[in-house]
Formats: sequence, structure tokens, C-alpha cells
Amino acid sequence: MSQENDQENDIEVDDPAPSFKNGVVAITGGTSGIGYAIAERFLRAQASVVIVGSDAARGHAAEERLRRTASSLELPNEAWFVQADVANPAAVDQAVSSIAQRYGHLESLVCSAGVGRKARLLETAASDFARLFQVNVQGAVTAVQAAAPLLTVSRGSVVLVSSDAGIVGEPDIGAYSVTKAALNMAGKMLALDLAASGVRVNVIAPGDVVPGMRTMLRPGEEVRSADDFMKWKFPPLGRYGQASEIADVALFLSSKSASFMTGAVIPVDGGMRAGLDWA
Ligand SMILES: NC(=O)c1ccc[n+]([C@@H]2O[C@H](COP(=O)([O-])OP(=O)(O)OC[C@H]3O[C@@H](n4cnc5c(N)ncnc54)[C@H](OP(=O)(O)O)[C@@H]3O)[C@@H](O)[C@H]2O)c1
Repeated sequence: MSQENDQENDIEVDDPAPSFKNGVVAITGGTSGIGYAIAERFLRAQASVVIVGSDAARGHAAEERLRRTASSLELPNEAWFVQADVANPAAVDQAVSSIAQRYGHLESLVCSAGVGRKARLLETAASDFARLFQVNVQGAVTAVQAAAPLLTVSRGSVVLVSSDAGIVGEPDIGAYSVTKAALNMAGKMLALDLAASGVRVNVIAPGDVVPGMRTMLRPGEEVRSADDFMKWKFPPLGRYGQASEIADVALFLSSKSASFMTGAVIPVDGGMRAGLDWA
């Protein structure tokens, strides 16, 4: 590269990190794993964060951890846990109503709540299939439907956390793969429905990420171990991703830097879905 080009690339950036000062962000599944990392990232970017989960004990513990982070950084913004099972539309409506009462607007909605099941599709019981679909697909769609008026107020954005298994399916987690493929298409349909209101909808398709989905870990395991019983292949980049690396993309997609992006499905997977390379 010539010296001239070196100088051309020497761009000065005042503050590259997006700021969500005075913004409010709701994160379903914000009590654990990727959703928690997204909540913490938004909190550090000065948004008030509302984390939603079905388990009250986990939710209050996550809220407390976020509040400690805010206080140690002397941030004025809030962290607040709202309990709701996203598979229950009435509970989702109730959660969004309480956000409306407290804030009256929403700059971003991130739907990260998700469950998995290790089973091939042919062997998946109807009740398991229904539950996966209700949480992973219907839960996200009903959250967007309920939050649309609040997002419209601020011409905000939606990020759906899907999976690379929704792009190229994984037979060992067959029903889960089906739900994530459906979620990818739901993101596109919602992007079209909301475009006229100025609300953008994008989908992140993470690859294998640490700590790993609770419902895919061994009972009692908190972080996926090196002898991962699921026997996932390492992605081409040679390691699992970190939840914080998914959070960075969620923040970008919610920011003005992504103002012309909607209806996109973005793999964040260390190259896992770039092509077949089984060597
Ligand atoms: N980790 C990975 O390697 C990976 C890879 C690709 C995609 N993903 C996707 O990323 C998202 C987050 O995964 P993660 O690794 O962060 O998993 P996680 O640590 O198990 O977190 C799942 C979150 O979803 C919430 N949740 C589950 N069922 C719910 C329900 N019915 N109602 C409300 N909240 C519910 C959980 O809270 P409660 O248990 O309290 O309800 C928790 O906060 C999921 O959609 C997953 O499919 C993860």
C-alpha cells in the first residue's frame, strides 16, 4: 500500500461508539447469555434497558447485576426486569403496556428469548414442536406487534436474534432449525410491514456462542464446555463466538449507522455458513 493510501485511510473518528442517551431498549431474553450481553452493551451506550424473561429469580438477579454496572460507571440510565412468558400473548401485551406507562416510547426492541431441543425433526413430539414455535417464532412476532406503536413514536428498530441453523439446518436440532428459518422470514415480513412507519427490522443469525443456550447445555452446566456434548464443529475462525460479539452487531443494527438496513439476515458466525468446508 502506498504512503498516499495510508494517509487516505487515516480517518479521524470522534466517538465511534453509538450512543442511545435517553433511549429505551427492551430485550426479551435479556436475563441470560446473548440477551444479557446485549442489555449490558445498550446500558453502557446510555440507554435504559428493560429485560424480559419468564424466570423471576433469574430476571431479578440479572437486573441487580446491570444496576451494579450502571452504578459503577455512574450512568443515569435504568435497568428494569419485567417478567413475561413470551409464548403467552396476553403476558407480552401486559409487559409492553408497563413499558408504555413508564416511558411512552421505545428506541429498540431486541427479541433474543429462545429455547432449543436436541432432537431430529422426525423424532420431535408435537408438544415440543409447538413450544419451540411458540417461544422462538410466535413470541418474537407478538412482541413486535405489541411494541410497534411505541417503536413508531421514535422511528426505532427491531433486532431478532435467530440462528445460523435457520440458514443451513442442523438435523440434530431439527425443530429448532425450522423455527429459526421461520423467524428469518418473519423478520423480512415485519420489515415490510413496518417500513412505512420508519421502523427497521433486521435479523442476526449467530453461530456457536459462549456461554451457550441453557436449553442446549447439560443439566447444571452454566457455560458450554470444551467437551461439548452437542459435538459442534468449530467455525472457520477457529473458536466459538462471545455473546458480546453478537451484542456489538445488535447495537450497530439499532443505531443510525444502519439507517438504510431493513429486512436483512446477518450471519455472525465466524464463517460457519460461508460454504461447505468439512476438511
Ligand atoms: N448461544 C448460542 O450459541 C446461540 C447460537 C445461535 C442462536 N442463538 C439464539 O440466541 C438467543 C439467546 O440464546 P442464549 O445463548 O442467550 O440462550 P440462554 O442463555 O438460554 O438465554 C435464553 C433467554 O431466553 C429467555 N426465555 C426462554 N424462554 C422464554 C419464554 N418463554 N419467555 C420469556 N423469556 C424466555 C430466558 O429467560 P428465562 O429462562 O427466564 O425465561 C433467557 O433470558 C436464542 O434465541 C438462541 O436461539 C444462540
